Amino acid sequence: MRAIQLNRFGGPDVLDVVEMSKPLPQAGEVLIRVRAAGVNFFEVLMRGDRYAVTPDLPVILGVEAAGTVEALGQGVDTPLIGTRVAAPLFASKRPFGGYADNVTIDAKLAVPLPETLSFEDATALMVQGLTAFHLLRQSPPAGKSVLATAAAGGVGSLLVQLAKRQGASAVIAVAGSRPKLDLARSLGADAAVDYSTSDWPMRVREAAGGAGVDVIYDIVGGSMTAASLEALAPGGELVFAALGRYAIGASELEAMITRNQSLRGFALLPLLSADGLRASLSELFHLAAGGQLAVTQGGRYRLDQANEAHRSLEERRSTGKVVLIP
Ligand SMILES: NC(=O)c1ccc[n+]([C@@H]2O[C@H](COP(=O)([O-])OP(=O)(O)OC[C@H]3O[C@@H](n4cnc5c(N)ncnc54)[C@H](OP(=O)(O)O)[C@@H]3O)[C@@H](O)[C@H]2O)c1
Repeated sequence: MRAIQLNRFGGPDVLDVVEMSKPLPQAGEVLIRVRAAGVNFFEVLMRGDRYAVTPDLPVILGVEAAGTVEALGQGVDTPLIGTRVAAPLFASKRPFGGYADNVTIDAKLAVPLPETLSFEDATALMVQGLTAFHLLRQSPPAGKSVLATAAAGGVGSLLVQLAKRQGASAVIAVAGSRPKLDLARSLGADAAVDYSTSDWPMRVREAAGGAGVDVIYDIVGGSMTAASLEALAPGGELVFAALGRYAIGASELEAMITRNQSLRGFALLPLLSADGLRASLSELFHLAAGGQLAVTQGGRYRLDQANEAHRSLEERRSTGKVVLIP
């Protein structure tokens, strides 16, 4: 089978297409023929060794895939052959390997897809869907004004919709271009502000009625975090989810304390139990299959174009989900 291997850290062209033998499903596992492999922004950072976690090399990138079950390991007796499933590799004992023609995963983690949900849309609902879902579960938006950052991206485009659905009093989206702002509005954002302008925090505050927003879901980090605090209401909460890109210092924390604001961390993986994962994924799959949650597809690339897929994310050209089609 073909796979995309990272042999050294660097730019998009360090992603090599390699031939290797198809993995054998071990006891309790299934072998999946991948039909869509999800690409996530953190993998772009990881490829350049700019992420919070440095993987051992060589590694086949990719932590999520969707496809059909092709073979069963010993002890798997359910009639799974041919079933369309999601493979949330990130929750398994071998969390990488998704950019490939085949993957294996513990049969208990393979989640069946509703008939009307495409493989591509299923990949969007794994890391990105679960991140949006758990960000909102941990810091519920009901009755609050909230700020969604990178609002047209994979996580952001789902978070805007789910926050609205869960009763946020106002969802304010920030993103980096006009088409992205239009997309966020079309997904239900009450206001959308371009955060490439210097006065964007003031414009967010205005959109929230003057005092600022109650909750900021910060998935961008870096210098954006400190700027966003200008748009946070007294008593508000900053949820920080941009792992490895924490850039606020003592003066910002001091200012938060004097305004009775709180800072909350967010990391997806520790929140996932096997049962919880299946339940949350099934909920997201059924919302999308039933048309209550729109998945934005932001680029389909062949497996051997993984470098192009990474470029589109890195150069901020993508919206929604970027997928590889083996
Ligand atoms: N804490 C966790 O457990 C967890 C889990 C999953 C994802 N995340 C985080 O969630 C974020 C979104 O992930 P995603 O996969 O859905 O990506 P994405 O939002 O689809 O793509 C990344 C977006 O980030 C924005 N951006 C801001 N600064 C950028 C920069 N310097 N370079 C490139 N893009 C930049 C761009 O949108 P604009 O042009 O609109 O700024 C870009 O489109 C990532 O930061 C990821 O690390 C966290």
